Amino acid sequence: MSYAFYKVLHLSSVIILFASLAGMLFARHAHAEREGKPPLWVPLVALHGVSLLVLFVSGFGLIARLGIGHGAGGWPTWIWMKIGLWLVIGAFMVLVKRLWKQLLPLFLTLLALGIVTVWTAVTKPGPAPARAAPAAEAPAAVDVPAEDAGSDAAVEGTEP
Ligand code: HEM
Repeated sequence: MSYAFYKVLHLSSVIILFASLAGMLFARHAHAEREGKPPLWVPLVALHGVSLLVLFVSGFGLIARLGIGHGAGGWPTWIWMKIGLWLVIGAFMVLVKRLWKQLLPLFLTLLALGIVTVWTAVTKPGPAPARAAPAAEAPAAVDVPAEDAGSDAAVEGTEP
């Protein structure tokens, strides 16, 4: 799978995750003290779970495509920060269930979590990552002056 494929998957799952969490918060708040589950609760929880998983898997797909060192030892600070933020965002559902009366503070907290994670993803704070050993380097292309194209010099790259 290409880098672009993982990135589309990654950013699409970010949108679905935050939309499902906001949806759960507003649905729970609107349902107030009434019995049973709020409307759309089950599909929202399912979307939340699937998008969290796809976000995680696509994040590691991106790590691989960026050639960032194999294994936790090679991960830069910003990836650890993102995994930590992913865990906090994943646990946000517990806050929705317990603190749904605090609608505005919870909604602003959700937005702040998103903004901090996007900032982390774009600015990548911390030291640069260890790069995995790149695959065997292909021989560098030899710059062949137009007038030498087709002559022996072109093959050997030496002056005619
Ligand atoms: C397990 C958790 C996660 C991992 C391992 C992860 C990993 C990555 C990686 C490796 C990239 C590519 C960076 C690049 O191309 O330079 C990326 C991009 C991105 N991630 Fe995540 N991510 C995770 C969770 C999240 C979450 C929760 C958000 C939510 C806001 C998020 C938002 C983004 C954004 C916006 C980008 C694009 C950054 C850019 O193009 O510069 N990620 N992520």
